[in-house]
Amino acid sequence: MARLLESGEIWTDFFEVQQGVPLDSTEGVNEVTQEHARIDFPSEWTRQHLLDLESLTEREIRILLDTAELMRTLTDNCRNRLSLLKSFTSANLFFENSTRTRTSFSLAAKRLGADVIEFTASSSSLSKGESFIDTAKTIEAMNVDAVVVRHKTPGTPHILSTRLNCSVINGGDGPHEHPTQGLLDILTIRQHRGEIAGKTVALVGDITHSRTARSNIWGLKKLGAHVIVCGPATLVSRDWESLGVEVAHNLDSIIPRCDVLNLLRIQFERQYTRPFPSVREYALLYAMNKERMARAKNDILIMAPGPINRGVEVTTDVADGPHSVILHQVTNGLAVRMAVMWLLSEAKKRATGVAA
Ligand code: CP
Repeated sequence: MARLLESGEIWTDFFEVQQGVPLDSTEGVNEVTQEHARIDFPSEWTRQHLLDLESLTEREIRILLDTAELMRTLTDNCRNRLSLLKSFTSANLFFENSTRTRTSFSLAAKRLGADVIEFTASSSSLSKGESFIDTAKTIEAMNVDAVVVRHKTPGTPHILSTRLNCSVINGGDGPHEHPTQGLLDILTIRQHRGEIAGKTVALVGDITHSRTARSNIWGLKKLGAHVIVCGPATLVSRDWESLGVEVAHNLDSIIPRCDVLNLLRIQFERQYTRPFPSVREYALLYAMNKERMARAKNDILIMAPGPINRGVEVTTDVADGPHSVILHQVTNGLAVRMAVMWLLSEAKKRATGVAA
């Protein structure tokens, strides 16, 4: 029999949850009602948008992670529904392709009892000349409470947050940030290795074009990790050193020190010139493979935000091996996105005097 929060220590600073409620069901997705799980809103959280991790405080990042952990536990690892967002509608405004982020936001909203609008740029009236802002305002006018936006232009979610009344969540803005990806990566590290402070986390690959790298760097640094960015000099700038990030170009020299390796994709779609002679050469120097695993710590954590290119940044035996938590990251994405939507929605209710 599954039980809610048999320990519950990690969020005792602001959450109070009724303990010992059975989650058993014979079929389908279970409903965890608020009568079963009372969640106290963390009053320090006031943000109505999630645009980046750079502007968040350490405390806000901890609230997001703790709330995600709570969502995960209350819903039996995101299998069950927790009806916190009834009468809430979210819209996915995706102007770039996505598998994980779009489906994860959709399912997270549904797990909380919300309705979801799916918008795809390629089949929309943008092709008839409608502007991006008018498109967003049109979707918002359908009584939408939150939009998740993915766009190739950095700053798009920030602009939308000044033009719309609903909450705006950054689902990835060009090479700038991907805050929910950063949060789910950090949550995964915390679940598997405990406190982030003092851990050495290397982000390997195309740092220059990676929004995932930026969100990880901001989040991990605020929580006290030692962050290394590693890759070819053409894709890893020394500028990161001014923020206290270690820059390395030789993966083999850093592997023995790392607790976590987060293997990033080479983002050819954002590059105007080839950053290295061949993919084969890149794989020889930077792919995580069994020979490199032999030189890593015994409990090294292998992560990748996906999509992964097998044989380029990671070999199949490592991607599917015992140190890999790549699919755990995906599950944690649901919990993080549930947490984000609930926190933003509650903050808005409180700011507008709608809160119960
Ligand atoms: N990690 C990530 O953002 O994946 P998608 O592009 O599939 O959403």
